[in-house]
Formats: sequence, structure tokens, C-alpha cells
Amino acid sequence: MTLTIKQIGKIAVVTVDNPPVNALSQAVRQDLWNAAEALDRDPSVDAVVLICAGRTFIAGADVSEFGKPPLPPHLPDLVTRIEKTAKPWVAAIHGSALGGGFEIALGCRFRVASPSASIGLPEVRLGIVPGAGGTVRLPRLAGAALAADMVTSGQPVTALRARAQGLIDAVVEDDLESGTIDFLRLALAQPLPPPLCERYVPAVEASFWETTAKSVALRAKREQAPLRALDCIRKACEYEFEAAMEFERETFLDLRGSPQARALRHVFFAERAAPRPPELRATVPQSIRSAAVIGGGTMGAGIAAALCDAQLPVTLVERDSEALDRGLSNLRAIFESSVKRGKISPDVAEERLAAVTATTDYGALADVDLVIEAVFEDLGVKRDVFARLSAVCRPDTLLATNTSYLDPGQIAADIAHPERFLGLHFFSPAQVMKLLEIVPTPDTAPVTLATGFALARMMNKIPVRAGICDGFIGNRILKVTRAQAERLLLSGAEPQTVDSAMRAFGLPMGPFEAQDLGGLDIAAFQRRAARVRGETPFAPVADRLYALGRFGQKSGGGWYDYDKGDRTPKPSVAVAGIIAAEALATPQRQWSEGEIVDCIVLPMINEAARILDETIAARSEDIDLVQIHGYGFPRFRGGLMHYAETRGLGDIVAILERFAKEGLAEPPCGLLRNSTGSGRFGLP
Ligand code: 3HC
Ligand code: NAI
Repeated sequence: MTLTIKQIGKIAVVTVDNPPVNALSQAVRQDLWNAAEALDRDPSVDAVVLICAGRTFIAGADVSEFGKPPLPPHLPDLVTRIEKTAKPWVAAIHGSALGGGFEIALGCRFRVASPSASIGLPEVRLGIVPGAGGTVRLPRLAGAALAADMVTSGQPVTALRARAQGLIDAVVEDDLESGTIDFLRLALAQPLPPPLCERYVPAVEASFWETTAKSVALRAKREQAPLRALDCIRKACEYEFEAAMEFERETFLDLRGSPQARALRHVFFAERAAPRPPELRATVPQSIRSAAVIGGGTMGAGIAAALCDAQLPVTLVERDSEALDRGLSNLRAIFESSVKRGKISPDVAEERLAAVTATTDYGALADVDLVIEAVFEDLGVKRDVFARLSAVCRPDTLLATNTSYLDPGQIAADIAHPERFLGLHFFSPAQVMKLLEIVPTPDTAPVTLATGFALARMMNKIPVRAGICDGFIGNRILKVTRAQAERLLLSGAEPQTVDSAMRAFGLPMGPFEAQDLGGLDIAAFQRRAARVRGETPFAPVADRLYALGRFGQKSGGGWYDYDKGDRTPKPSVAVAGIIAAEALATPQRQWSEGEIVDCIVLPMINEAARILDETIAARSEDIDLVQIHGYGFPRFRGGLMHYAETRGLGDIVAILERFAKEGLAEPPCGLLRNSTGSGRFGLP
């Protein structure tokens, strides 16, 4: 049994208990159905409280059942069964009532919630629409505009907001079960409100649908579910209840098996698996109650802000008082911008800043639990910092470097207790970007690694373990992206056609626009270091732009020209001249949008396969998460590797071989070739 029933006076309390999140598996649906039947027949029961055990109310349909044939009772029938019960049901919500969970609550006659609860219909994030009446009942409760906003964005709302918007009937401050029973006793003394299926949606302005569709399309980019969800809401307003339910069900079933929904489900499970890798499940992490950051530049300030956001007291260390002032003002600017964007209140910003101790004295770190170094990308400077940390910190203080390209093993070569050292590679801006590459050295102890993952959970980051190589997982693939983009230019494509093809594929920005935003100087510095190591990075045009001082937006020009105070990229005659000069020896050809994407993305897949083969990444899903959360790879494509498997590994090998013959890419690697039989990476 996934639920229990007890009786308090004439009120039955149905408690669903299906850990971890009370998802609506077939067993839960059946048990709820049976409960509705039994309680309707029971003359000693006047009303029913539906409540959940564990950390949350029902968090939705069981997503793991989506790939399988649906089994009765189907969720829409169950919601209707609850709505039609002879005794009124009240949903008592704690944690999250999401998707099918909120739809069950909409089937109840009343909804009450704890102040910390949230409710929502996040189905569009899984590439589907609500499939159990959410798009039909919600407008009948809240009106078309609020329903459209909630359903097309998938964003949950807090209980207090939901109360103000009429989505729930009461907020229960103390014990949820007894508070709900008190609420119900009062409610039963009044005439009952009609169930939502019997209500109508207030009319909206004629222009509402067109205006909303435009803004939804803009936000959804190329995801199809949000617009299909808006269609369902429109039908819910214009059709009778039953016809609207039918339309919603058809849309749900149509989308459930779509490539986008499969890709988004893949990302859903990858994201949930990432914070707790199976190999670390048995390792208890150290507790982290305080943190320090060395260096208050771009990354250090962002990391410090992210640690503050995770409620940790932070010590910020700089090399002198001038740099310390700059570091603090970087940090202040981050919080001010969060206030401006409405993310936090001015009071919270002040509180967070007050939790920061700024100093130039390493002695202040004697009792800190974690130190993250974010000083200049220079082995000597970093080793010096760790020598000082090693002298002042406790022997069990976790020491981490944010290096992008250096070998963390070399950085830690001389520290005491190297088992407490690891790489924590944040992405810029660190207070925003979700990705955290966790890079153990050969000496890193499992408990240190487990603590890195626990820290990621505290900071609400998506952690991915990466092995040591130049650029770890993400920046190693980025190098290929950029080299391929330049190869395209030398063989006839223009920066703007390359950028627009990549945007059409789903990236937020093309490779040249992105470099202009970030600055060409950083990559030039890395190429210089690579040349010192004896490598031969390929960037003939970027090298010339750098030599001319064309660093991107910050210098008024990079791959594009920029007018003063305007960030709109304009094709550059000067850059076209440099490309033409560099391309003299390369055969020119016409490039279609699809070929441009293939010439960049397929070599990225090839490099990713090598990364997997060398066990730099442990799982292909990890590479998907790196690409989505670090580089804006379209989520609806499921990430780089999911895209590759969906596209067909055999096709990819054939196209890469053609490119290789023309000198436009490396030939497919062994793992890619060997995986074509199964169509899955790593399976023969
Ligand atoms: N189905 C199946 N498994 C689910 C699930 C779901 N709807 N939601 C969460 N899980 C699993 C996770 O995979 C994870 O499994 P694991 O322990 O084996 O790795 C476990 O539950 C815990 O999940 P989290 O780590 O995410 O737990 P948190 O406490 O951090 O978050 C939560 C809880 C806010 C409920 C979060 O899990 C969440 O947002 N879940 C998804 C909710 C959702 O999208 N619901 C809509 C489903 S679609 C639907 O209902 C269609 C309907 O309209 C017909
Ligand atoms: P930055 O130049 O903006 O900041 C470096 C800071 O370190 C400066 O404020 C400097 O005063 C301080 N510093 C130098 N020596 C110090 C010392 N001995 N003690 C205390 N402070 C010292 O550099 P940025 O961009 O923040 O990079 C820092 C590190 O993060 C580098 O290793 C870089 O490779 C890495 N990184 C950078 C990313 C980016 O996009 N900028 C992304 C991810 C990692």
C-alpha cells in the first residue's frame, strides 16, 4: 500500500507515502482510486484530507513511467474521480505540489498549504503539457492570464503568492494536518463551492491570445511545449470542459513521445543523478560551515557571492589593500545587480555583504572549513598561495583551485595533506552559472571528492566530475568549437553566417559573438601558454585580431565592429580582409546552415567521445550537463551526446570522414566508430 487512511471524528485523513517524492506511480493512482471509492461508501465520513508523508506533497506523475505503456487508472480519470467524490476532499500541501500533484489538488474541492510550500505545473520543462486537466481547471480557478503564465513558463509559485492569487484557500502556519482539519470544519459549515469542472473562465480581450503567443514564442526559443500549452489554455477558455479535456489529452499524448520530450526527460534524470554519483554514495562528506576565497577578481568575487547565497560566512583574501577594495566593490556590484533584477531585497544584499570578512592576512584562515583559490592563472602564483594556505589552515581544511587550464596536481605538488585538495572549476559569472567541474588529483581522497559534491548541492550547482587534461571537459571541447569555426571562415563562410547558423540550432549565441563578449585576449593568453608547452593551437584569424588589439566588445571591435555604446555586432570589412588573406591557400565552398552546424558540432562530438574514452568524463550524460549548463547547448536537444545518439552515430562517422578528407575536421575516433553498432556511446 502506498497510502494509509485514518479517521478523526467524521474526517478521513488519507496519507500518501511513496518516497522519495510521492510521484504518482500506477500503485499510488490505484490506491487513491480505491480510497475515493471506499470513503464515498463510508457513512461515518463527511470529508477527506489528502496529505503526504515525507519531504513533499505529490511532486507529479512518475516520469520514469513515461516511456512505458500507460496503465489504468489513468491520471485524468483519477482527478475526475476525486472531483466527483460524494465527500469533499481538501489537499493539504507541504513541499511541492507539481504537475500531476497540483492537478490532483485542483480536483479537490479545497487546497491549503504550509507557508514554505510551492505549487506549479512544470510540464513544459519536460517537453509536454499538463495531461490531467491542469490547463483546463487552472483557468477556471485563476483566469486565463495567470494560468497562461504559470503553464507556459512552468515556474512554481510560493504558497503565500498562491493564496493572494486565489490558487489556494488558506495557508496553515502550524501543524498542517490539524490546521487543515480546522479549516475543513469551518468550510463544511458553509455552502460548498462548485467543483472546477462546473465553473467558467472569465472572458479575455480578443488580442490576449496573439500578444501572449508572441511573448511565449520569444521565451520558448525553439521548444514546442510552451506554445502547445497556450493552445490548450485557449481551448479551455473557448470549449466546454469535456472537449477541452480531450484536446489537452491529445496534445499531452502527442508530445510525450516527441524527440524534444525524450531529450528533456534525459536531462531531467541526468540533472537529478549528477549531485549524487553512485561511486560516492557510501562516502560521508565533511561538513562545510565556513569558506574563504583567495582573489577577488572576476571569478573570486562571483564565487564569494555564490558562497554567500548558500548562507556560508565567507572570508575574502587579496594580495594588498587596493586589490581588496576592488574585490569588495566587485562583490557589492554583484549584489546590487541582484537587487536591481529583483532577485533579492536590499536588506538581504546587506546581510550577505555583512557575512563577508575582507582581509589581506592569510592568518585569518586558521579555522576555516574550505578555501577556494581564484588568483591569476599562473602556476607560480598559485603554488605560492597554496604554500601559504598549507602553513596556516587546519590539516583537514578542504583546499580547492579554480584553475581553468593548469594541472591541479602540479598546483598541489608541495602542500601538506594533498588528499584534501581538488579542483573546483566554476564558470563565469560564478554566481549565476550552474555548472561546477570537480577535478580530483591522483591524491584526492574520496571524502574530499564527496565534500566537493556536497558543496555543489549547498550552492545549487550541477556538479560534474572531470579528469585532468588541458581544459578538463568543457574548455577542451570549446577549443574544438572555436577551431572549427575558424576552419569554416577559411573555407568560405562568414562570421555572421556561422553565428546565425549556430543560433538557429539553438545556441544563445554564435561562437564569434560569444568570443567578442568574453574577450579575445583570454583565449590568446591560453594559446600563448600552449605554444610554450610545445603545442600548436589553430587560430590564425583570432591571433591576428589579437595582435591588432581587437579584443571584442571591450575594445570596440573583435570579430565584429561595434559602435560606441552599442553592443550590436556589425560585419567588419577589416576582419573580412584578414580572413581573405589567411584563406588564400584554402579551397572555397558554399556552406548551407546545416553544413555549418555539422562542421562545428560533429567535431565537438568526436572530441567528447575521446574525452569519454580517456575517462576524463565518467558518463556521457555528464558531458551533456557540461554543455547545457556551461555553454548554453540547447536543453531541448538533450545535450551534445544525446543529440549525437539521436542523430545517429553511423551518420556522424560518415560525415566526419568526409570532412576529414577535405581537411575540415579530424577523422572519427575509435570510440565513436566502435559505438555505431549499438548507437550508444561506449556500447559495442
Ligand atoms: N517522477 C519520478 N521520479 C522523480 C520525480 C518524478 N516526477 N521527481 C523527482 N523524482 C526522483 C528524482 O529522480 C530523484 O531520484 P533519485 O533519488 O533516484 O536520484 C528523487 O526523486 C529526488 O529528486 P530530487 O533530487 O530532485 O529531490 P529534491 O528534494 O531536490 O526536489 C522536487 C524535489 C522539487 C519535487 C523535484 O524532484 C522536482 O522538481 N521534481 C519534478 C517535478 C515535476 O516535473 N513534476 C511534473 C511531472 S510531469 C506530470 O506530472 C505530468 C502530468 O501533468 C500528467
Ligand atoms: P582576475 O585577474 O579577474 O582576478 C585575479 C585576482 O587574484 C586579482 O584580483 C588579484 O589581485 C588576485 N590575486 C593575485 N595574486 C594573489 C595572491 N597571491 N593573493 C591573493 N589574491 C591574489 O582573474 P579571474 O578571471 O578571476 O581568474 C581567476 C582564476 O579563475 C584563474 O585561474 C582563471 O583561469 C580561473 N577562471 C577564470 C574564468 C573566467 O571566465 N575569467 C572562468 C573559470 C576559471
